[in-house]
Amino acid sequence: MTLEMFSLAGSVAVVTGGSRGIGEAIAVAMADAGAAVVPVARSEDALGTTVDRIHDAGGEAVACVGDVTDEADIERVFDTAEREFGPVDTLVNNAGTNPFFGDATDLDTETWEHIMDVNATGTFRCTREFATRVTDRDGEGSVTNIGSVGSVVGLPSQAPYTASKHAIAGMTKTLAADWAPDVRVNCLAPGYVITEFTEGVRGNDEIREELLDGIPASRFAEPEEIAGTAVYLASDAAGYVTGEVHVVDGGLAAI
Ligand SMILES: NC(=O)c1ccc[n+]([C@@H]2O[C@H](COP(=O)([O-])OP(=O)(O)OC[C@H]3O[C@@H](n4cnc5c(N)ncnc54)[C@H](OP(=O)(O)O)[C@@H]3O)[C@@H](O)[C@H]2O)c1
Repeated sequence: MTLEMFSLAGSVAVVTGGSRGIGEAIAVAMADAGAAVVPVARSEDALGTTVDRIHDAGGEAVACVGDVTDEADIERVFDTAEREFGPVDTLVNNAGTNPFFGDATDLDTETWEHIMDVNATGTFRCTREFATRVTDRDGEGSVTNIGSVGSVVGLPSQAPYTASKHAIAGMTKTLAADWAPDVRVNCLAPGYVITEFTEGVRGNDEIREELLDGIPASRFAEPEEIAGTAVYLASDAAGYVTGEVHVVDGGLAAI
């Protein structure tokens, strides 16, 4: 009975950025929990790896190439998911980018706008499309926005990324209130995770040691350690959870 609350059997999930790293782990975990999954990313080849992993484990998945900065792509993603599996129950906004690390006086406006466009506006675009469809069918659904520990604290040398992730936390709270009880909206905020995204900082001895000093768990997370919380937030076990910024960071933000 208790475990059934965590099942996603019979549901349909769209996971943006589902081709590698945290998004791949979330897509695989959600399929393992019973959801039919549509991973989305710009690279078709990498999406194929996620879909193969899900199929090999006996799950259901169809890849959809798409860019979260392109509204026509986003419509096509939801059309594809509905055609293949039926109405979408869960959206995980995981696609993200962080091409800038440094002093904000060296940051050009174009780079700032690009980071906001992918991380914050991309999350908004996908969420609006999803919620419109849920409302049109008089249904229910859940959105999990992948924020960051940078949704709740300032990350040194990462001003635009931190701003974009705080924007995600803010929209999570407002949309959760606006759309309750039909659409639950939560933010899952990871600390430092072992993916391509963090290769630069993890590969620099000085920065790595500085980061690890600030993490009570004294290590970086595996993507699978983030995925379990995404399954929980999409499940009935989290039926009363909305507007929450759920940090999974080895204690980083606690000290
Ligand atoms: N790794 C960490 O330590 C960490 C910590 C906190 C939060 N996060 C957040 O977690 C999420 C995933 O991070 P990650 O570490 O797994 O990163 P990653 O390994 O770089 O993966 C990023 C994913 O997003 C996709 N993507 C990027 N831009 C896109 C766009 N415009 N449209 C559609 N898909 C796009 C990428 O595929 P394509 O390039 O093929 O499109 C890829 O699937 C991000 O939102 C990140 O901010 C990561």
